[in-house]
Formats: sequence, structure tokens, C-alpha cells
Amino acid sequence: MKTGLPYERVEDVQRRREEYSRAQMYYRCGLALASVSALLVLAVILQSLMTTRGPSSSPDPVPSPRFPAARGQTCSDTCRIVLVESIPEGLVYNGSTANPSIYQAWLNLIGEARSSLDIASFYWTLTNKDTGTKEPTANQGEDVLKRLGELSGKLPVRIAVDLQKDKHPANLKFLTSAGAIIRSVNMRGLTNGVLHTKFWIVDKKHIFIGSPNMDWRSLTQVKELGVVVYNCSCLAEDLGKIFEAYWFLGQSGQEIPATWPSNFSTAYNKDTPLQLPLNDTQSGVYLSSSPPSVCAAGRTSDLQAVLSVIQDAEEFVNIAVMSYVPMMEFSRPKQYWAEIDTQLRRAAFLKAANAGPALQVRLLISDWAHSQPFMPPFLKSLASIYDPKHKLDIQVRLFVVPANPSQKLIPYARVNHNKYMVTDKIAYIGTSNWSGDYFVNTAGVALVVNQTASQTEEPTVQSQLKAVFDRDWYSAYSTPIDHHSF
Ligand SMILES: *[C@@H]1O[C@H](CO)[C@@H](O)[C@H](O)[C@H]1NC(C)=O
Ligand SMILES: *[C@@H]1O[C@H](CO)[C@@H](O)[C@H](O)[C@H]1NC(C)=O
Ligand SMILES: *[C@@H]1O[C@H](CO)[C@@H](O)[C@H](O)[C@H]1NC(C)=O
Ligand SMILES: *[C@@H]1O[C@H](CO)[C@@H](O)[C@H](O)[C@H]1NC(C)=O
Ligand SMILES: *[C@@H]1O[C@H](CO)[C@@H](O)[C@H](O)[C@H]1NC(C)=O
Ligand SMILES: *[C@@H]1O[C@H](CO)[C@@H](O)[C@H](O)[C@H]1NC(C)=O
Repeated sequence: MKTGLPYERVEDVQRRREEYSRAQMYYRCGLALASVSALLVLAVILQSLMTTRGPSSSPDPVPSPRFPAARGQTCSDTCRIVLVESIPEGLVYNGSTANPSIYQAWLNLIGEARSSLDIASFYWTLTNKDTGTKEPTANQGEDVLKRLGELSGKLPVRIAVDLQKDKHPANLKFLTSAGAIIRSVNMRGLTNGVLHTKFWIVDKKHIFIGSPNMDWRSLTQVKELGVVVYNCSCLAEDLGKIFEAYWFLGQSGQEIPATWPSNFSTAYNKDTPLQLPLNDTQSGVYLSSSPPSVCAAGRTSDLQAVLSVIQDAEEFVNIAVMSYVPMMEFSRPKQYWAEIDTQLRRAAFLKAANAGPALQVRLLISDWAHSQPFMPPFLKSLASIYDPKHKLDIQVRLFVVPANPSQKLIPYARVNHNKYMVTDKIAYIGTSNWSGDYFVNTAGVALVVNQTASQTEEPTVQSQLKAVFDRDWYSAYSTPIDHHSF
């Protein structure tokens, strides 16, 4: 056990500590505004919120950090951002673009943890036993599980997991017995979706977001991409609000509130991103979330984030996602859903038709045994919008992770599971497949980084992500879709 105290007591102490540090942060961010007029605006907003809600709904004696403060707030944290990847065993590139591994990032985060760890997850299969395999490459996943177990005995570890996917409870039983608190979120019952989110929050200041599931294959047999942001309490606090929403929904019998309480709302969104330095490069950053019903006031929905990033692009839009189909795949009856598809065609057309330079749109999609059967024809339709003479430039390639005979036996592996987009302005790193379900009823998040305004010569997340895309696009593992026969 962690200490002599029962868990709830530890949690209480923890909560009080957090409230104290949040109040302190509120001060820090408030001072960082360094503008009397901004503080006045803040005061007016707080005042109006309090008067419209009535004093009884704001029991905090201190100015509550739960209210979104001034818009477009700045953050004085010295945040460091690192792109991380899992490159499946046997996948070899010629070039020099390489990022630290997700396994290493997870070990770092576990090593950094001093006061808390929150994990939002889809399902848990970190060991060979869970997948009925005897693969030596499960060792990294098994190591992560062991270390998470050790950590659960030392500090509060909270895990939100999808209820329907709670099918392999062995990992979760182990973690519970080690001291972790698990809540299963019934997304099917709540929104007819799943909790597909994958993120970590450590000590309310370091975060991880990306495509990997809590699955050993995500470390060694599936191609994944994620991002870690260290020492960034402003961003971590905001991600914490999304975690708290899952945690809230994970209580039995809980329903989605018609209006989320104001402490879940955020000031950071596509119109007023959080202004902070990422590795010394001034950046505008926000977290988008889906489905819209779990977004509290101020939160940009994941779909709005995707559409606005595409709209904002001037030179190129590079998309790398596992699956892309203009439909609601899992609804019965199936529905046609073309919000993103239409936006891509629109963006390519508008540039071409209005005498601007062409907008180059490239989609790198995964081809594997379980690909959606409707995917190829709709991707070919997109790729047919290619006519250099009229500056129409949409291209599609399929990425195949090859497998040797023994790798072929590993179920649901050997696939490019990435979910990101990079434009000439933005890096978007998400957790969702690109079909309607993921934006309408399934829970997911994305980190959106805008470094347009910076004049830096340093590598940016955007330039690093573009290098990853180009490496994959030009590699021997990807081929134009029209060269495929289905
Ligand atoms: C976070 O900040 C602390 C204190 O400034 C520093 O010692 C540590 O190296 C930083 N961590 C990272 C990953 O940058
Ligand atoms: C908001 O307050 C409620 C009640 O205290 C709590 O359960 C919830 O976790 C809080 N939400 C956030 C984002 O802190
Ligand atoms: C990126 O930031 C610039 C200003 O710095 C803004 O004009 C632009 O709309 C932002 N792009 C997106 C997609 O948020
Ligand atoms: C994403 O889409 C694929 C193909 O439709 C599906 O098999 C997978 O379960 C989805 N979710 C994940 C884990 O990415
Ligand atoms: C940020 O700094 C870290 C090391 O402190 C480095 O690993 C990472 O690549 C840098 N990220 C960018 C986008 O430059
Ligand atoms: C590496 O380069 C060689 C020679 O140009 C080429 O045949 C091979 O397909 C390349 N491999 C990848 C993964 O791009």
C-alpha cells in the first residue's frame, strides 16, 4: 500500500495540494498577462460569471481557477516537446529521420512521476498472455506494465478505460491490486461510441498524446506516432479537464450532463489558443476533443479542429491516418458522412480555381488485412482530383508494413496506426481514425500546434512531423493507390 492512509484520504490530501498549486498557477498565469487592462477584462468576466451563476454555485473562497480566465492566455512554463514513434520490428528506412521511441517516452514519464499519473485508454493488452502469443517483442509492453504496477503502489494512478473493451481485464486486475484506481467508461451506453482516447498526464505537468494503445504490439509490432510535452502544467491542466470528464462519466449510472459544470470549461481553443514557448519557439496550442457531447464550454471539437486546419493551409496538407472513409462505419444502418472529404475537395478546388498556387493534398493511408472494404474506391475518387494543368493536386498512397511468416501470426499487428496531419502551418497529432464515428460519437483528442507566428530557425514540431511524413511517403513501403488492385 502507498501509505498508512486509505486511498480516499490520500486523494483528499492530493486534491488539496492540487487546489493550492492551481491557485498558485492562476496567479502565475495572471501575472504573466502583465497587462492591467487584461486583468480588468478578467475581473469583469469573473464577475459576470459569478453574478449569472449566483454565489452559491461558486463555493471557492479564492478566485477560482476553475473559471476560464482571460482568453488567449499565456503560460510561463518552459515546455519541451518531443515527437516519439514506434517503428515496427523489421521496418528499415534509408534516411536519417528518426525519433525517440514511445517505449522510452513511457519509461521517462514513469520515471518522472512523483505525485500522480492519469491514463486515458481504449483497452489493455500489454503481455503475451493477453494476446495468446509467445513473442519475444512483447518484452517492452510487459516491462511497462510491471513499472506501472510499481508506481501504483507509490502514488495515485488513475486509469479510464472503455467499458466494452474491458475484455482483457488481466492487466487492469493486476494494476488494481497494485493500488491503481480504474474506472470503465460506458461510451457505448452514453454516446453509442467507444473511449478511443490515448493519453497520459504525469504530475499534472507532463503529457503524452498519440496513436498507441496500451498494447505490447503498439511498442514493437505496430507503427505509431505520439508526442510528449514535458514541464508544461498549463497544457497538462487543460488535458486534465478532459480526463476529469472521462473520470466523471466512469461513475456507474452517470449520464452526460446537458451542460458541463463550468470547472470543465476551457479558455484554450482554435480561436484563442494557449500561447506558450515549446522548446523556445513561441506557439499557439490547444487540445481538441470528441465527441462534441463531452466537450465543455470553450473546447474546440476534434472535427472543427481538423476542418479549420485544412482550411487554414496555403501550401500543403499532409495526412497520415490508419483508416479514412466518408462514412459512419459502425452505425446501423451505415450512414454517409463526408465532412472531411468535402473539406479536402473544397480546399483543393478553391486554391486551383482562384488563381492561387496549388494546394498540395497528400493522404498516406494504411493497407492491411482489416482495411475497411469501402476505403479503396473512395480514396481513388479523392486521388482522381489530380490535374497539374489546372493546379488540382490530391494524391493518395497506401502504406504497407511488411510481415515475415512469424510476424503474420501476430493478430492485429503490422500496420501503420498513425493519426496525424501536418500543413505548412500546423502540426495536428490525434488519436482518431478518420471516419464519421470518431468525430460524432467516439471519444478522442488531438494536440494542435501552431507555430506560424514564430520566426525561429530551430526545428519545430511542424517541421519534424513533415520530415516523418516525407520519410514514409517516399519510402519503399508506400505506393500510389492507383497502382493497387483490390
Ligand atoms: C523539467 O524542468 C526541470 C526543472 O527546471 C528540469 O530539471 C527537467 O530536466 C525538465 N525536464 C525536461 C524533460 O525537460
Ligand atoms: C469539477 O468539480 C466536480 C465537483 O467537485 C468534480 O467532480 C470534477 O472532477 C471537477 N472537474 C474538473 C475538471 O476538475
Ligand atoms: C495559426 O496562428 C495564426 C496567427 O499566429 C492564425 O492567423 C491562424 O489562423 C492560426 N491557424 C490555425 C489553423 O489555428
Ligand atoms: C481504426 O480503424 C480500423 C479499421 O477500420 C479498426 O480496425 C480499428 O479498430 C480502429 N481503431 C483503432 C484502434 O485505431
Ligand atoms: C525539444 O527539445 C528536446 C530536448 O530537450 C528534443 O529532444 C526535441 O527534439 C526538441 N523538439 C523540437 C520540436 O525541436
Ligand atoms: C532504400 O534505398 C534503396 C536503394 O535506393 C531502395 O531500393 C529501397 O527500397 C529503399 N528502402 C526504403 C525503405 O525506402
